[in-house]
Amino acid sequence: MGAEIVIQTENLTKVYKRLFKAGKKALDNLTISVPKGAVYGFLGPNGAGKTTTIKILMDLIKSTGGTAYVLGKPSYDVEIKERIGFLPDSPAFSPQLTAYEFLNICGKLLKIPSAERGPRIEMVLETVKMAPHMREKIGSFSRGMLQRIGVAQAILNQPDLLILDEPLLGLDPYGRQEFKQIILTQQARGASVFFSSHILSDVEEICDHVAILNKGKLLCAGRLNKLLGASGFTAIIPPNNDEVLKELITMAAKTSRKEDGAWILTFPADDEIRGKVDAVVSKSSDKINVTAAYEKLEDFFFRTLKEDNKQ
Ligand SMILES: Nc1ncnc2c1ncn2[C@@H]1O[C@H](COP(=O)(O)OP(=O)(O)OP(=O)(O)O)[C@@H](O)[C@H]1O
Ligand SMILES: [Mg+2]
Repeated sequence: MGAEIVIQTENLTKVYKRLFKAGKKALDNLTISVPKGAVYGFLGPNGAGKTTTIKILMDLIKSTGGTAYVLGKPSYDVEIKERIGFLPDSPAFSPQLTAYEFLNICGKLLKIPSAERGPRIEMVLETVKMAPHMREKIGSFSRGMLQRIGVAQAILNQPDLLILDEPLLGLDPYGRQEFKQIILTQQARGASVFFSSHILSDVEEICDHVAILNKGKLLCAGRLNKLLGASGFTAIIPPNNDEVLKELITMAAKTSRKEDGAWILTFPADDEIRGKVDAVVSKSSDKINVTAAYEKLEDFFFRTLKEDNKQ
């Protein structure tokens, strides 16, 4: 049996009805699985269908086809709700409430016993660095401060699963750093995290899985190191080993030179080339490291979308 899955969609499809126009297909047969304990980045350009998917997972809108399971139950099951922490894409908070009052209401709705509620609220406000502002009105908060309050309410119930729609939006570099720490702490606690984002460098840092969506269709999904490693492999040729360099350089797709004079040759993911490189390397008296080449997530993202948009 495979690992436990916390989100499973199968052929999930959403067509929005529009007045006097054909329906808009926002999601087209999306099939993804999020394993328990994952930090899963949900990526795609504007309009790709990320928020639509998240809304279906949270049962805020209905799909027009396919299935969505969350924590092992259909996404409309009410029992799973209190095990999920959710940050919507444009959270609407009551501006006249203080941060503390707002979280107190959230805590009551989540049925956190009153004795536990106060300390728990203070703890999450501390976590999102908003404790000094707990008695201030939400209406006076900046975009980033609101986002922090949104994250605070999402983690208030120590949920098994966090579903966050663009949690990094509006955060300053400190906020982004803190958010990454929060997510890793949640993961260490045993929670699974599924979030959409456009900030690929942050996604690359904390996510172990990603999916890329374009125009409602899934382009790829899986373990990040597998997806990024698919680009090939590199060999580092020590300085002055011209013999090996000459043999390998013609097969390389990319070459660069290090300060000490060593060469980094990057080869495409091709078994035949790998075999030839291994043969040359094994004959050499120098130690030559051959390792998987990891593409940057940003390069992988643009390459994947470019290939899709060509079709
Ligand atoms: N209520 C709606 N009625 C009609 N079309 C909609 C509706 N909501 C979303 N869409 C369309 O569905 C598509 C997917 O939108 P969605 O909000 O899911 O994208 P997204 O990936 O979250 O984008 P972003 O990165 O901008 O947040 C878009 O083409 C959008 O115009
Ligand atoms: Mg969105």
